[in-house]
This record gives sequence, C-alpha cells and structure tokens, in this order.
Amino acid sequence: MFLWGTATAAYQIEGAVTEDGRGVSIWDTFSHEPGRTRDGHTGDVACDHYHRWPEDIALMSGLGVNAYRFSIAWPRVQPTGTGEANPKGLDFYERLVDGLLDAGITPAPTLFHWDLPQALQDRGGWMNRDTSQYFAEYAAIVADRLSDRVKMWITLNEPFIHMAYGYGLGIHAPGQALLLDALPVAHHQLLGHGLAVQALRASGAEQVLITNNCTPVRPGSDSEADRAAADAYDALHNRLFNDPVLLGTYPDLSAYGVEMDVRDGDLDVISAPLDGLGVNYYNPTRIGAPTDDGLPFTDLGITGHPTTAFGWPVVPDGLRELLVGLRDRYGAALPPIHITENGCSTEDTLDDQDRIAFLDGHLTALDQAGAEGVDVRGYFVWSLLDNFEWAEGYHQRFGLVQVDFDTQRRTPRASYTWLRNRLSPDAS
Ligand code: BGC
Ligand code: BGC
Repeated sequence: MFLWGTATAAYQIEGAVTEDGRGVSIWDTFSHEPGRTRDGHTGDVACDHYHRWPEDIALMSGLGVNAYRFSIAWPRVQPTGTGEANPKGLDFYERLVDGLLDAGITPAPTLFHWDLPQALQDRGGWMNRDTSQYFAEYAAIVADRLSDRVKMWITLNEPFIHMAYGYGLGIHAPGQALLLDALPVAHHQLLGHGLAVQALRASGAEQVLITNNCTPVRPGSDSEADRAAADAYDALHNRLFNDPVLLGTYPDLSAYGVEMDVRDGDLDVISAPLDGLGVNYYNPTRIGAPTDDGLPFTDLGITGHPTTAFGWPVVPDGLRELLVGLRDRYGAALPPIHITENGCSTEDTLDDQDRIAFLDGHLTALDQAGAEGVDVRGYFVWSLLDNFEWAEGYHQRFGLVQVDFDTQRRTPRASYTWLRNRLSPDAS
C-alpha cells in the first residue's frame, strides 16, 4: 500500500511545554532567548495539538490520508534525556497512536526532530559522543511501549539541517556557530541512528528509516571550478548523511580540511540495513566556485523559477532529478524511498492556489521518477497545519489547514480539498 500522509514535528505543533512532566528542550531555551526567532515567537502553545489531537486526526481522516508522520518529543519521554521514563509522556503518544489506528491511519513516528533535552545540551549535546548512546536508550523506551502498534519508525529528522543550522551557523537551537567544527554532530547523530536501529529491532520494529534532507546540487557552470565546488557541497549536504548509512563509508571531505573522528566498528553500526530511506525535498541548490569566506563553495541561488512565501525556488523537476540521482548513485544499496516531507509556505490565504500548483508539480515529478524505475512507497505533505516554523516563528505558513493562533481555529484551505479529491476522486 502506498502511504499518503502529512508530516508534523512535536515542537512545531504540540505546545503544552510544561505539562505532564515534560522537560525543557533546547528549542524552549533557544526560542526564549531575545533575538533568536522572528518576533520572539516560541512553541509554548503552538497549535495546542497536545490537547487538540482528536480534532487533528479528524482533519486527516477528512483528507483521506492513510499515514501520519509526527515526532516524539524526547523531553516528554525522558525529561532530562537519561534515566527513568516519564509515563505521562508515553501515555500521550499512546493515545495519539491509538487514535490514529482507530481512524485507519498508519503512524510513522520520528524519534528526533531537533528538540534535544536541555540537560543533554548542558553536557555538549550532539557534540558529545555519549548522546548517541542516550538516544538509543530513549529509542528503546519508546519502542518498548509502542512497537506492538507502531510498525514504521524514523530515527532522525534531517541530521544535516540540525548540524548546519543548529551547530554550524547558530540559526536554530542550540544556537552555536561552530562552522566546520560542528562536524562531530554529523557523526554522533549517525551513530545514534545506528544504535537506535539496534534498539528498535530488538523491540520488534518492522520498518526502520532515517529521514535526510536531500537537495540535487547543480554546478553554476560547466567550469572545472564550479563542478568541484558543487561536488564538495554535495558531499557535505547529501553524501555525508547518505553514504555512511547506505554504503558504510564517509565521503571525502578533504575540500573542507576536516576529518571525522570515527572509531572502529562505528560504520558497521551506522550502516545496518534499513527498510526505507526518508527523503525531505524542498528545492535544488546551485553552487559555484568559492569566493572568500573560507568555504570551498558559494551558494549561487536558483533563479528563473517561482518562489514560495519563504523565497525558496519552486522546482518540481528537482524531485525527479534527486530521486533518479539517488538511484544511480546507490543502486542496489538504495532501499525503497519515502518522501517524508515536501511542501511550501504561502501567503496566509484560504485560496492557496500556489500550494496546489506546488503539490501538483511535485506529484507529477514523483510519477515520473516512478516511471524511471525509482521505488517510491510514500509521500508526506509538509504540513498538515500552519505551525511554529523554527526561527521564522508563526510567519511561514506551510499548512493544508490554516491555523488562527489567537483562537486555535483550524480551517482547511483550498489545497486540502484539492488533495482530498486527488487522493479519493470518487468520494466527492
Ligand atoms: C532549504 C530547505 C531546508 C530548510 C530548513 C532551506 O534553506 O532550502 O531545503 O529544509 O532550509 O529549514
Ligand atoms: C523540517 C521541518 C520544517 C520544514 C520547512 C524541514 O527542514 O524538517 O521541520 O518545518 O523543513 O522549513
């Protein structure tokens, strides 16, 4: 069965940040620091999904999707990131999972979507190798409670963006600007992924995936310098996270003058077989030769395409290009693909024709990738609801459903009706 779903993340929708014993996450800390998010927005209330989840499941039922990708907040399950589980935190996800199953919707939880317990950040966060082990212990606790009902698991969400934005550039929590010194965050997340796969398998998990943010990288020109720069960027953004998982090797990062501190056996753990690769696609990247900021590339930006409200280029064929490129690179080592996020922000209107055009174009590209032999098994729209868009606060609206953040009123947009008709043409 092809999975059609929507995707969300805990900190972006749940709110209820002090309820039922939830601990503090790095996003609570970061969003409350002056100047970190637009207009000082925080996820304190967000979409109040912690209380309104039955209404949100009803919205999914009305949409006609058969799957839901959400994330589990580590600090709800282990308030300080280690030790005893908080039963009330697990109870929440159990209620949610049972509600989804009652509605005939397959739950696809992600274990880490960037909301690290603050207590672990105080020990270095993902710069500290120990966090990998703690992540596996947390995975075991969650799987122990839910794996009789949850068949599909995603370990990490976009370890590249978490490393680059959170530790490299300081635009996301934990707000560190270590530049290339952030590289251990890649290895420790990947090691955590591998150890979590072991824990999930031990609990009987049937399907385990990782979700990577992937971008097809296009050189600015045919020149040797541009092509070398594009290759270096591809190594950092894509291959650093896909190669170790799928091939058991790290790409050559010598263009960056950095090396990974990899210990014996780590790559065996990281490359344990997966049942699928989660791919989040938003846009391609165009890269040229370096200028003078110390990096071996320059992001030239994509021009000549419409842009989303966020200013991101809309290039549907980039999805086909990406998937065919993954298939060509990894061949038999590539497991079935799930598009675990794809979508766009638009102006806050109910008649969101831009989102309809975006989704229509990308679903066509997905069909074309399928026709070219790429094995795609699922597609999840980002996102069900307008939500807390990280550093942009509530300003970027990604929802098929509009949320009025003053009243928490949810109103389906035109794209919701369009997608419903596309998924179940006979129902309307
Ligand atoms: C990228 C997206 C990415 C996002 C992270 C954007 O600049 O184009 O691919 O998901 O940043 O918030
Ligand atoms: C992230 C989401 C985010 C979306 C849009 C992805 O990078 O996984 O949490 O909201 O892109 O920026």
